[in-house]
Amino acid sequence: MEVQVLSRPFLKMTIFKKSLIYKIAGFFISLETKEILKRITETLEEIFNAERVSIFRKKEDRNYLEFYTFSRGEDELKKIKIELSKGIVGWVYKNNRPLIVNDVSKSKMFYKGVDELTGFKTNSILAFPLGLKKRRYGVVEIINKKDGKFKRKDLKICELISPFVAIALENAALFEKIEEMFFGMIRSFAKAVEAKDPYTSGHVERVENLSYLLAKKVGLKGNELKNAKIAGILHDIGKIGIPDEILKKPKKLTKEEYEIIKKHVLYAKEILEPISEMKDIIPAIYYHHERYDGKGYPEGKKGEEIPLLARIISIVDAFDAMASDRPYRKALSAKKNTKRVFKK
Ligand SMILES: [Fe+2]
Repeated sequence: MEVQVLSRPFLKMTIFKKSLIYKIAGFFISLETKEILKRITETLEEIFNAERVSIFRKKEDRNYLEFYTFSRGEDELKKIKIELSKGIVGWVYKNNRPLIVNDVSKSKMFYKGVDELTGFKTNSILAFPLGLKKRRYGVVEIINKKDGKFKRKDLKICELISPFVAIALENAALFEKIEEMFFGMIRSFAKAVEAKDPYTSGHVERVENLSYLLAKKVGLKGNELKNAKIAGILHDIGKIGIPDEILKKPKKLTKEEYEIIKKHVLYAKEILEPISEMKDIIPAIYYHHERYDGKGYPEGKKGEEIPLLARIISIVDAFDAMASDRPYRKALSAKKNTKRVFKK
């Protein structure tokens, strides 16, 4: 039997390609644009041993490129707009071809604007177009190779990676669109319910924004922050089941009427329960009238028995209600308001 001995360069290439596939697979681990961009830039920095990777995206309805960069250790994504004709990136986008510039100081094409805005010093660039079939999605720039110069063989790797970067970013853009539509729909729904109650105009929008900010302040992240927004928007949708004459009553409510108002948390729970994706949001809404001292409703839960998101909604809901005029009283000052919210 003939034994085939694999050559060392062949083995090296096979191992490299395998590890490349694992790295590329990481682009598809999330659907969040920010997370995907972070993974792509960090992976390309590692593959090419470069100081930084920039991604320029061209959205279908825009006539400019959006610049993203994600430096290690930096949390905030920097977004800058670049004209389609500007610099090396513009050339690569227009010609749909990769380009290596190992000394940008000698290139007339190099556009200094981005360095001036970011405070980063570019020395060398390998830029390649992001494309899939005939569509062009933007350009990737690999900047400042740490060990020597970019070489022609690097372009082969770029050619291989380019469609995967494009697909990962396209998936994220589609997911963003669906999410925008979802938020648009629940905001419209909440506004329709809010229109039943003439004294709370703009309340839902303020509770959405304040819940998000407070959730961020207490250290919540990612999906939990999104849930705080959703719960903020939908917290009072159960009012759809409360008779108008009670909601619109210009005087203080009787005990019986107040008992009916209290049912709005139960109605919200019943409305949302058939939607399985709402299972983490429902407790935030159902318990948003509980009080830390146990004197709230619907179950009289106390302290940390009340889910954290419900406590967040409860604080901002009470704060906003007290900061607004009511037919039977004027809005409280910020100082008085804060005191009263925390007394509750
Ligand atoms: Fe409420």
